[in-house]
Amino acid sequence: MLQQIQETSRYILEKTEHFIPGIGIILGSGLGGLVKEIKVKYTLPYSEIPHFPQSTVHGHKGQLILGYLSDKPVLAMQGRFHCYEGYDMKQITFPVRVMKQIGINKLIVSNAAGGMNPEFQLGELMIIKDQINFFPSNPLIGKNEDELGPRFLDMSETYFKEYIDIAKQIAEQNNIRVKEGVYLGVSGPCFETPSEYRCFWRMGADAVGMSTVPEVIVARHGGMKVFGMSIITDLGIEERIENVSHEEVLKVAATQEPKMSLIVKELVKRIL
Ligand code: HPA
Repeated sequence: MLQQIQETSRYILEKTEHFIPGIGIILGSGLGGLVKEIKVKYTLPYSEIPHFPQSTVHGHKGQLILGYLSDKPVLAMQGRFHCYEGYDMKQITFPVRVMKQIGINKLIVSNAAGGMNPEFQLGELMIIKDQINFFPSNPLIGKNEDELGPRFLDMSETYFKEYIDIAKQIAEQNNIRVKEGVYLGVSGPCFETPSEYRCFWRMGADAVGMSTVPEVIVARHGGMKVFGMSIITDLGIEERIENVSHEEVLKVAATQEPKMSLIVKELVKRIL
């Protein structure tokens, strides 16, 4: 794996004339709109990047964007990889390893998620304050490469508190309603049954989705500081559960995306 990480990093650095981003951003379903705000310098399709998996999901584009957001150098993943596509945890998180290798120490992740917290409305923006790994595996299983991080990883502050505080300030200053909550990650591809939503809520999660948790584990393994946000695209609240479809998820995400983009853009300005 080490060799692959190095080869991919070298490819990206060569293609971008050694453009060094200060922050990595992973854009989730229907949340690619932030790219419009980036002064794009380089676009690298995943299909051309050595060792990169391919994005197979509608609504996930599949390219790396390098450029300036709020005049700060960033790398954005437009489209990510999921367990339900058949990728294993190491493949899903490979791009995060590469980000770290090219010198990125900060990561922002976004996703669409189902909300279980009865205080949530459809389209709610949720700042992720912690996560629960409910995937069938863990990306750190296997031989530990000590150069990449510790064998036994401390997860006591997975999402960096300082970033959460800044994001809340930004939201308040811009009259954007945000909530904080715990994100639980599952493999998918099924959406949850009413009993599963109820189970996850009782377990302590506010929202559930099919991504983010593996990437964040690997980012923490590499010592990166992480910020995450979910858009609540459907509700799994007892007595209020409705049908959910991927199209509906994309539709709700798109309506709320500008607010999340604003918060991310401001956050980048303040932490870089
Ligand atoms: N469950 C799992 N993943 C999701 C959901 C959901 O309700 N909504 C968007 N992604």
